[in-house]
Amino acid sequence: MKAVIQQHYGSPDVLDLRDVDRPSVTDDGVLIRVHAASVNRADWIVLTGKPYLVRIMGRGVFTPKHRIPGIDVAGRVEAVGRNVTHFQPGDEVFGDLFSSGLGAYAEFACVPESQLAPKPANLTFEEAAAVPLAATTALQGLRDKRTLRPHERVLINGAAGGVGTFAVQIARAFGADVTGVYSTHSVEMVRSIGADTVIDYTREDFTRTGQRYDLLFDLVGNRSLSDCRRALAHRNARHGVGEHRPRVRTHGSHCRRAGPFTLCEPQDAGTVSWHDQE
Ligand SMILES: NC(=O)c1ccc[n+]([C@@H]2O[C@H](COP(=O)([O-])OP(=O)(O)OC[C@H]3O[C@@H](n4cnc5c(N)ncnc54)[C@H](OP(=O)(O)O)[C@@H]3O)[C@@H](O)[C@H]2O)c1
Repeated sequence: MKAVIQQHYGSPDVLDLRDVDRPSVTDDGVLIRVHAASVNRADWIVLTGKPYLVRIMGRGVFTPKHRIPGIDVAGRVEAVGRNVTHFQPGDEVFGDLFSSGLGAYAEFACVPESQLAPKPANLTFEEAAAVPLAATTALQGLRDKRTLRPHERVLINGAAGGVGTFAVQIARAFGADVTGVYSTHSVEMVRSIGADTVIDYTREDFTRTGQRYDLLFDLVGNRSLSDCRRALAHRNARHGVGEHRPRVRTHGSHCRRAGPFTLCEPQDAGTVSWHDQE
């Protein structure tokens, strides 16, 4: 099969398209024919090996441990291992391979059953492949780590990004009053996905508007905790996600910072429930 191979950390130039053996099906694995895979910030981190912490978190200290990159995937089941109970050949599936050895950038991938979910019929493979990691990160931040309740006021810093666009929609679905922080070029998009209020960070500082929020879901991490406190209704109302901004780490229990992948453990992908609209 054709696969993208990464033997070193670096820029996209380190990637090669090669012929490699098709993965064999493990007892607990599902062999899928890949129809679509996506690229997001987490793939960039895996490609570059930066921040270095990600290397000692199991990615390989000097060279990448997993030679075929690619986290989010959607495809059709080709074969299943003998212990697999939820899927059968022909099923359309999608999932997140972050904790199972990556491998979405190939014609076939063998994925543990637990990392997959049925693809909703109303999503194309391309749409489904854009969902898993970013959406579960948003879901875990707004539901699992701190459940958002109807009418609570949530501010999403970084609302126009991969996680932010899901966060806005999830917060809206929970009945929250949603404020999105974005830059000028994203205004229509952020409004169209459900933000009640939008703040353009190039023109306005969300910590100085006088508004206070029950939850600040911070996907940018560019403000100090003391700045953010001006916008918080409660001391523990800030919830950050991300690999950057070391100062965020110093906020201790006041900032329930989740490392880049803490909030998006792929085994939780199966807990996302989808409702086809047709
Ligand atoms: N993507 C994932 O699956 C994933 C999973 C786990 C953790 N994370 C972490 O979550 C964080 C966000 O990831 P992402 O994928 O959503 O990133 P992203 O797609 O690059 O989005 C980041 C957004 O931040 C906005 N932004 C930049 N400067 C800003 C500022 N000063 N104030 C407010 N917003 C600003 C940008 O908005 P404009 O375009 O409007 O400028 C951009 O859309 C990262 O730390 C990432 O490591 C991501």
